[in-house]
Amino acid sequence: MDLNGIERLIAEMTLAEKLGQMTMSPAGSAQTGPVRGEATTEAVRAGAVGSLLNIWGREATERFQKLAVEETRLGIPLFFGVDVLHGHRTVFPIPLAEAGAFDPDLWERTAREAAREAAADGADLTFAPMLDIARDPRWGRMAEGPGEDPLVGARFAAAKVRGFQGGDLAAPASLAATAKHFCCGGAALAGREYAAADLSERAVHEIYLPPFRAAVDAGCAAIMSAFNSVGGVPMTAHVPLLRAWLREKLGFDGVIMSDYAAIEELIDHGVAADRTEAAALALKAGVDIDMVSNVYFSVLPDAVSRGLARIEDIDAAARRILILKMRLGLFDDPYRRTKEARKNSEAAKKLALDAARRAITLLTNDGILPLKENIRRIAVVGPLADAREEMVGPWTLAADPRQCTSILEGLRAALPDREIVHAQGVTIKDDDVSGVGAARALCEDADAVILCVGEAARMSGEAASRAHPGLPGRQRELAEAVLSTGRPVVALLSSGRPLIVPWLAERARALVATWFLGAGAGEAIAEVLIGRFNPTGRLPVTWPRAVGQIPIFFAERPAARPANPTDPFTSKYIDVANEPLFPFGHGLSYAEVKLGNLRLDREEFSAGEKIAVAVEARNLSDRPAQETVFFFARDRVAAAAPPVLELKGWAKVELEPRQTKKLSLTLSAEELSGLDSALEWRLEPGDFDIFAGLSADRRFLLSARLRCR
Ligand code: BGC
Repeated sequence: MDLNGIERLIAEMTLAEKLGQMTMSPAGSAQTGPVRGEATTEAVRAGAVGSLLNIWGREATERFQKLAVEETRLGIPLFFGVDVLHGHRTVFPIPLAEAGAFDPDLWERTAREAAREAAADGADLTFAPMLDIARDPRWGRMAEGPGEDPLVGARFAAAKVRGFQGGDLAAPASLAATAKHFCCGGAALAGREYAAADLSERAVHEIYLPPFRAAVDAGCAAIMSAFNSVGGVPMTAHVPLLRAWLREKLGFDGVIMSDYAAIEELIDHGVAADRTEAAALALKAGVDIDMVSNVYFSVLPDAVSRGLARIEDIDAAARRILILKMRLGLFDDPYRRTKEARKNSEAAKKLALDAARRAITLLTNDGILPLKENIRRIAVVGPLADAREEMVGPWTLAADPRQCTSILEGLRAALPDREIVHAQGVTIKDDDVSGVGAARALCEDADAVILCVGEAARMSGEAASRAHPGLPGRQRELAEAVLSTGRPVVALLSSGRPLIVPWLAERARALVATWFLGAGAGEAIAEVLIGRFNPTGRLPVTWPRAVGQIPIFFAERPAARPANPTDPFTSKYIDVANEPLFPFGHGLSYAEVKLGNLRLDREEFSAGEKIAVAVEARNLSDRPAQETVFFFARDRVAAAAPPVLELKGWAKVELEPRQTKKLSLTLSAEELSGLDSALEWRLEPGDFDIFAGLSADRRFLLSARLRCR
């Protein structure tokens, strides 16, 4: 099939057949939203469906494909779309955790592996990567994305698109990627799922769009519009962002699909009176595929006859979908992805373990970790200690939880010569505290306690907003009881978001963010606890100390009166510090690295030039170190108040004990641009500060000044 063939096909298609191509239906495998009817054999045979979602398995997909190819009038193959957020069969760490590895190569490799597995299971396209910048831990979907920073989001986007799509979309192990959710879901009102995002255009362009631009630049095949509205306009009908920005400005010519039932939900948003108006609005905005609502198929003919929708727009949408199918190689061989049997997944398992290790973030440690030889009896306590199924985390469809190792299993395997005792104490959700006494008793004669607390896997992800993002259920009572024994407690937090537990951070001897790590969870956690692996995870999100600080992030704009401890009339709370519990980029290791000698290769620069930034990293410890160094900038004076810090890049360095190394970063002048009043990126003359640090904690940043001519 080639482009001429597609034009011939379009010329032959009836309106109903075109609308069929624009219809994506569920097929009974996984329910990820309210059920709105499923694709039937008859509908597929009639050409009323162009793609199916969240169905996998060779037999199931091939059965539908056969119907489409052999029994429809034109024989146009279906494509199958599946959510593959952090692995398909093999589970990798949730994206938020993986983001904390700050390693684009890892991000790409896990996507590649996931694509290979999902393709062998019949998928042609994945509804990933999820690129919502998120600065509000109440919002459960923070778990699915790259965290708070647009640059991290952009690099994550590019890596994931490369990983899923490979070099050739038609290759049997490649999937089309879908950058989602376009856009601003992370800014949902008060962190409440599906709520409106009412924010400035500047914020949209500065914070939420860069990852999507990067996805488009990387050749992303599809984009999913978000459920929410932005500035009063639902994203499913957002002409300025979908048509003017994405299509016209960026030149995106791939497929845009709605989110699940989102076209029909334009009625709930209050911008469409009925299904016909809803369909017409979405089409006008450039949404090619109707996921689940089935309004395009049922009412667009009516909209066309009422003059609400244009046939040219329908043709353009059908054309983009057929081109995607062509690029996926489906016209040449609709069964190309399922031909090869699924490969032995040993390599995937290894990769999952490696990713899990690298995502674990050591938040505090008074020296109790790594666990020493004299710790002989270890009490492993809490509802997440022996909970394989929770290690999977939210949003996997095809993963078998039995592949995960629990924390208890991981520790027992890693420390066969120690006495390891276990008690659950409480469950995550129930109110029953009858097990607390026994758990406490178990801890009393332990040399150390590993307290495993946090969220259940499904307490983050979609439709999992939390007004109290702390420890759910009665886990705090368990924690207090265990802490009251006076035994050294290492607290492990399993979660899809930062949990607000300042009291635990204060009283535990060490606090570790273990997120949801997937297949390698238990083993990776044990390796970190015993020091076999020196932790490398760094926070991709600011970790608040109080719900009232939310939204919280490092790139805020200056206050009219910046906080000053000695002046009450400055920007601060009277009941809590402004500072987060842990800043973006924070993460300890068992080594100690210090930065010094930040140097720039020039004092002035102009547009088009490059700036070399160098800094020295010194390992002060007797252990090898692996550090991540962050580089930030601040425009001193600009037309629009510039953020107090903006991330410009990061570098990783490995140091032998006591070794010092120089690390460098090259910045192009344009990377110091800001958005001007027309929301175009522009370099403004004047002074800039360049910073280097091990986190975004401004107290510890090295800085150097530079002038733009
Ligand atoms: C989610 C999407 C997902 C889709 C299909 C929706 O509810 O918002 O992220 O891709 O369902 O499962």
